Amino acid sequence: MFENKPLPYAIDTLEPVISAKTLSFHHGKHLQAYVDNLNRLLPGSGLEGLPLEEIVRRSATAIASSLPAPTGNLQAIFNNAGQVLNHEMYFAQFRPASSVMPGPTGHLKSQIEKQWGSLQAFQDEFTAKGVGLFGSGWVWLSAQEDGTLVITQEPGAFNPVQKGLKPLLTFDVWEHAYYLDWQNRRGDQLKALWGILDWGVVEKRYNTR
Ligand SMILES: [Fe+2]
Repeated sequence: MFENKPLPYAIDTLEPVISAKTLSFHHGKHLQAYVDNLNRLLPGSGLEGLPLEEIVRRSATAIASSLPAPTGNLQAIFNNAGQVLNHEMYFAQFRPASSVMPGPTGHLKSQIEKQWGSLQAFQDEFTAKGVGLFGSGWVWLSAQEDGTLVITQEPGAFNPVQKGLKPLLTFDVWEHAYYLDWQNRRGDQLKALWGILDWGVVEKRYNTR
């Protein structure tokens, strides 16, 4: 059984970028529903007991190879498992707005500068790709096996693990992530998210790939 992991910070400490009201719905309702759905769908699927990333990978592969169409349950398992994985990574990467926010250091810093020239140039491209993603989905920074970084736009519940990438950082561009606080101003919220990003979490993911 999967559980909705508690937020690693108090619910009102990401304000004004992400309000307590948004978090109460986003974490307490949306993610909780994905967790509950996944737990309901897994028994008898042949995927129960596997790690979350493995469930996402295997269900995606099964759907892609299924002829002529995947079963409804398999698609639902993928959708819900993908969204649990995406949201767990999303919520874990922030820190209170009042805390000191150092940028990336070490290998991650040097790799970003090598590929984009500066942290600001990387952030601008990442934000633009989040703004430019049509409909609901996620913008991701991931690492390839050789440490090279890549930004991808993933629709719906997709996660870069499906492409064999190591996901490091993500912004949720589903409307439920920003609409209560920012209405239609997706880009403004994405720009503000850099101010609460815990680069230490991103760097740890990069260094343990
Ligand atoms: Fe979300």
